[in-house]
Amino acid sequence: MRKAHVLMDRDFTIGTTDKRLFGAFIEHLGRCVYGGLFEPGHPTADAQGFRQDVMALVRELAPTIMRYPGGNFVSGYNWEDGVGPVEQRPARLDYAWLSTEPNTFGTNEFIDWCRMADIEPMMAVNLGTRGPDEAGRFIEYCNHPGGTALSDLRRKHGWEQPHGIKFWCLGNEMDGPWQTGAKTAHEYGRIAVEAAKIMRWVDPSIELAACGSSGRNMSTFGAWEDTVLEHTFNEVEWISLHTYLNNYADDTAAFLASPDLMDSFIEEVVAIADAVAARRRSSKRIMLSFDEWNVWYRTRRRTGNRTRPGWPVAPPILEEIYDMQDALAFGGACISLLNHADRVRAASLAQLVNVIAPIMTETGGDAWRQTIFWPFKHMSQHGRGEVLRTIVKSETYSTAYHDPRSLTDPPIAMPAVPYLKLAAVHTPEGLTIYALNRDLERPLQMTADIRGFSSLELVAAETLHDADLKASNTQEQPDRIYPGKLENVSVEAGRVVADLPPASWTMLRLAASKGSSL
Ligand code: AHR
Repeated sequence: MRKAHVLMDRDFTIGTTDKRLFGAFIEHLGRCVYGGLFEPGHPTADAQGFRQDVMALVRELAPTIMRYPGGNFVSGYNWEDGVGPVEQRPARLDYAWLSTEPNTFGTNEFIDWCRMADIEPMMAVNLGTRGPDEAGRFIEYCNHPGGTALSDLRRKHGWEQPHGIKFWCLGNEMDGPWQTGAKTAHEYGRIAVEAAKIMRWVDPSIELAACGSSGRNMSTFGAWEDTVLEHTFNEVEWISLHTYLNNYADDTAAFLASPDLMDSFIEEVVAIADAVAARRRSSKRIMLSFDEWNVWYRTRRRTGNRTRPGWPVAPPILEEIYDMQDALAFGGACISLLNHADRVRAASLAQLVNVIAPIMTETGGDAWRQTIFWPFKHMSQHGRGEVLRTIVKSETYSTAYHDPRSLTDPPIAMPAVPYLKLAAVHTPEGLTIYALNRDLERPLQMTADIRGFSSLELVAAETLHDADLKASNTQEQPDRIYPGKLENVSVEAGRVVADLPPASWTMLRLAASKGSSL
C-alpha cells in the first residue's frame, strides 16, 4: 500500500469559502433549458413548465449561484426577445450553436426558476453583437424599481418587484475566435469599461466580472488579463477563468493530474491581477470567478458533435456521458477550487442539465445523476467553511497532459504529481476532508495529523470508486456509480488514518470540538 502523510491545524487557514463558490451554469444550448429544466407538458412540470424531477435533483446538488444565459449564446442574444407575452416572442437563429432559439424561456422565467430553487442569479450581457447601450437598458429592465419605460415594461410583464440581480458578467469568452463578435483585448477592455460605467450608474449595488481568458492554453493568456484589467480595473470586482479538463489522449494518469494545472492557472491570474493593482499602488484585490469549469472532451472538438444541421430547436448536443475517471478528475478540480478559496470567490460548474452536466434527462421521461454529480454534491453540501492549509507529503508520479489548442501543441510536462490531492474544510459541523487517490493500481493509506481540535469523531466516510474506470450512469442503470462507505478509517487522538482505494474520491466528515486556539 502506498502511504501519504497530511498535516493541518485549525488555526492555519487559506480562507473562508464564499457561498458563490458552489455555483453552476444554465445556457440556451442543446437541451439544457428546453427538455431539461423547462418542459411544459412533462408529467412533473409545474404551471410554469419547470420540471420538478429536475428541481429535486438540483436541490440535492445544492448549487448556490446560476450563470445565465450563456456562454457563447449570450454573444448574439437580444434580451428583449425573451420577455413579454410568450406568444409574441420571436424565434431567432442562434449563431453560437447553429440552433433555433424559440425564446419561450427568458430572463423572467429564469429568475422565477432561481427563486424556486433558492439560487442567486448571475446574469451575462451581450458584448459580442451588442454593447454598453443594451447592457444599460437590460439592467434597467431587471433592477430599476419603476417609473421608467423599461422598468415599467417589466412590471407590465408581470414582475412588479425588481429582480435585484447583483452579479453581472461583461460578455463571455471574448478572446475566442469562435465567439460571435470576438474582440482583441483592447477592443474588449474598452467596451467592457463603458458598459460597466453605465450598468453601475443604473444600479450602483451590482458586482461586475470582466472576461478573462477562455483557457490557460490560449495564446493570448496573460497578456489578455493584463490589458483587460488595465482598462477595467476601477470598474470591476471580478475576472473570469474557464477550464475544461480533457482525456483526449486516453491517459488516465495524465487526466487525473490535470486539475493541478487549474491551481497554476488560478495562481497566475492572481499574480497578473495583483500586478495591475501594484502598478496603481492600489490595495484593491480583484477576485476570481471561475465561471466555467468541468470535464469536457468527447463532444467538444468534432463539429458533428457540437451542432446539428437544419437549425433545430434544442438539439441533443454536448450530451457528454461521464464515467468514473471523469468523476475523479472533476473531484480534483473541486479540491483546486477549495484550496484557493481566498481568491476564487465564485465558480460555476458548466453546465447544469444535459449539456456537459451532472443531471441528465430524457425529454418526456426520467432524470438521473451523472458520475460528476457526486463530488459536486459532496463539495457543495459539506465544503462550506474555513479551508485549512494542508501540508501533504505524498510520493509523486511523472506524466504529460495534452491540452491542445492545435493538434501540433506538445503535451505539458508534469514531472512531480502527488498521488494524493487533498482539501480540508473546517465547517460549522466539524471538519470535512476531500481526498483524491491518483494511484491507479494501489490503495493509499492517508495519515492525517489534525491539530487544534480537542476531539474528532467520524460521522461519515463516503468513497467513489469502481474497478471499471469507464463505467457510467445511464437511464437504465442510474446508480451504477454511487458513493459507498469507506470501511478502513480510524480516528484517534487527532489522527485520522484512512485506506483510500486505488483511483478513488473520498469525503470524510468528522464532528469536531475546538481545542485551544492560537
Ligand atoms: O459551456 C459550453 C461552452 O464552452 C460555453 O458556451 C462557452 O463559453 C465555452 O466555450
